[in-house]
Amino acid sequence: MADIAVLGHGVVGSGVLEVLLTHRESITRRAKEEIRVKHILDLRDFPQLPYAGLFTKDFNQILQDPDVKIVVECMGGLEPAYGFAKACLENGKSFVTSNKELVAAKGAELIALAQKNNLNFLFEASVGGGIPIIRPISQCLAANEVGEIAGILNGTTNFILTKMIREQMGFEEALAMAQELGYAERDPSADVEGADACRKICILASLAFGTHVYPQDVHTEGITQITLGDVAYAEAWGGVIKLIGMVKMGENGKISILVAPMFIHRESQLANVDDVFNGILVRGDATGDVVFYGKGAGKLPTASAVVADVIDCVKHFKARKYLYWEDAKPDYVEPFARMAGEFFVHIKGPGSSDQAFAAAQALFPQAARIIRKDEEPGEAGFSAAGLTPAGLDEKLAQLKKAGMSVCGRILISDF
Ligand code: HSE
Repeated sequence: MADIAVLGHGVVGSGVLEVLLTHRESITRRAKEEIRVKHILDLRDFPQLPYAGLFTKDFNQILQDPDVKIVVECMGGLEPAYGFAKACLENGKSFVTSNKELVAAKGAELIALAQKNNLNFLFEASVGGGIPIIRPISQCLAANEVGEIAGILNGTTNFILTKMIREQMGFEEALAMAQELGYAERDPSADVEGADACRKICILASLAFGTHVYPQDVHTEGITQITLGDVAYAEAWGGVIKLIGMVKMGENGKISILVAPMFIHRESQLANVDDVFNGILVRGDATGDVVFYGKGAGKLPTASAVVADVIDCVKHFKARKYLYWEDAKPDYVEPFARMAGEFFVHIKGPGSSDQAFAAAQALFPQAARIIRKDEEPGEAGFSAAGLTPAGLDEKLAQLKKAGMSVCGRILISDF
């Protein structure tokens, strides 16, 4: 019998109980012993539940219970999860979490602590929800040099963009629909401003490149500025706009990492990842592109990844060595301003569209014009390669001085 405790009985925590109860027999067979939930920590009461007697409000009751060897955390947020994780790992208990804030902020430290004490700190659910991605990168693809990862890592924003692309629904209306359907939080800022995707790409970057990548070092743009005009330009260019988390290792040994809306070519593997689905493309030198697709959030998909980690802990109680990264070195991230790439630029001038484009062409000789359906008078769109964001901003400032409005600039992806 393996006794565990579950911290948090929200969407994911209650899903963990549901998965354990529903699949009790097969899980016992796979873990080679029965997994029993002995305590559930939550500040709320759930008297109607058949397992109401398992609830406690006192974390110390769990910490001091010698029978509990695995603690599962599904609370989210940095505190008190971080304090609980440290206390467990310092007191002989392995720790399984779905908490991306915790892993993105404290992963290197908690992995090191777990390994020092020959315990496990596992977090398969923290990035892809039900999509297996942590083990595939760290185990199955371990013989590769992973050069680049690009992913649609946030279901809420992907749902909104899908509505904008497929139904020409405005951003606000699509967000309201996502909230109504339960795909977006009441406060959706972490999703629409890109912070959620940023945490996830940081975890994947840490895993792939062996050095902790902190969200505060990453350039992050959300989708709040994306308009239906931009969506139409993307279509005229030959693709769609997606919110992408991307990381690659540069030749200078620095990590280029960012979260931003990007033009994705229609033929890209990520272009058809729609609605609340996530997709993650991992570019390995031996494998080429490997793509993971599925539900990146939700009660049962996420709980299934958490319970799989618990089974792994039960079968291998001592530290699993495949999961490891070191703390960051100084200046390990390439500043966004210096990352060269291709951009779509959307401007508007007081004259005709042709005049607006001619003014742009004087500054961007490489500009390739894009003409969208229902282009407004004075509006022009173009793509231009070989630019750094700093160089682009300098030229855009000159356009503004010449009386143009810059409606937007969006990165063009190369995958
Ligand atoms: N709101 C997040 C999403 C939940 O939509 O992907 C999972 O992090």
